[in-house]
Amino acid sequence: MDILVGKNISKVYGGQKGVTSTQALNGLDIKIRTGEFVGVMGPSGSGKTTLLNLLSGIDVPTTGSVSLDDRDIYTMSSEELALFRRRRMGFVFQEFNLLDSLTLRENIMLPLVLDKRNNEEMEEVVTEVIKNFGIEEAADKYPYAVSGGQQQRAAVARAIINNPAIVFADEPTGNLDSKSSKAVMNSFEMMNMEQKVTVLMVTHDAFAASFCKRIVFIKDGAVYMEIVKKGDRKAFFENILDCLAVLGGERSDL
Ligand SMILES: Nc1ncnc2c1ncn2[C@@H]1O[C@H](COP(=O)(O)OP(=O)(O)O)[C@@H](O)[C@H]1O
Ligand SMILES: [Mg+2]
Repeated sequence: MDILVGKNISKVYGGQKGVTSTQALNGLDIKIRTGEFVGVMGPSGSGKTTLLNLLSGIDVPTTGSVSLDDRDIYTMSSEELALFRRRRMGFVFQEFNLLDSLTLRENIMLPLVLDKRNNEEMEEVVTEVIKNFGIEEAADKYPYAVSGGQQQRAAVARAIINNPAIVFADEPTGNLDSKSSKAVMNSFEMMNMEQKVTVLMVTHDAFAASFCKRIVFIKDGAVYMEIVKKGDRKAFFENILDCLAVLGGERSDL
C-alpha cells in the first residue's frame, strides 16, 4: 500500500515584483509504500529540501498534489493539516531542534504532553524509547551537556514517540561525526525494522543513505533514477557511490 503519493509536483520560488524566479521542482512524481525506508539524494540545490517540505505539508507546491494515507493534504483546512501533521508525521532536522531548557527526556516527551496523555503512560513509553535508543545516561541532561549524536538520537526518539505513520528527515547526519552518524542511522534502522515506521530521509551522505532500502536520485527538480537494496549495506554503499558518480556534480556537493 502507498502511504505517500506525490504527483506532478512543481515548485517555483519568487517571480513576483521583479524577483528572479527559481524552478526548484519540475513535475516530480514519487510514491512511498508503507514500511519503506527511502533516501532522497541529489546535488546541492537539486530540490531535496523543497521536496521534503512539500510532501510533509510545510510548504505548498506551485502545481501538483500530495496525498498521505489517501488524503489530499492540500485540500485540508490549516487546522486539520496541523493536527494531521502532529498525529501522523514525525520530523528530524539537521540542527537537532531540541528545546534547550528541557532535558532530553522532557524533549522526547513533549509531543505526548501536547497531546495531553496521562502521566504514567507517558513515563512508560518514554523510558522504553530511551532504552531502545541507548541514551539512558544522557536522558536527564540538557542538550548542551550531551554529544551531538545523543541529541540527534533524542530528536529521532521525539519524532516517533507519537507513533507517526511516517518520519521525514532532512540531512539528519549533516552535523555529526562518523561515529555519531552510525548511532543515529542505527536508530532509524531500528525504528523502521522493529516499529515499522515509514521513513523518508534526505541526505547527501552515502554512508547514511546505505541504511535505506531504496534511494531516489533527483536532479534538476525531477527524479533521475532509483536503486533498491539487494545485498548487504556495504554493497549498497558501493552502488550508491556509483550512482552519485553518474549523477555528476562535485563529489563534495553530494
Ligand atoms: N525559500 C526559497 N526562496 C527562493 N529560492 C529557494 C528557496 N528555497 C530554496 N530555493 C532554491 O530552490 C532550489 C532548490 O533548493 P533546495 O530544495 O533547498 O535544494 P537542496 O535541499 O537539494 O540543496 C535552489 O536553487 C534554491 O536556491
Ligand atoms: Mg537541503
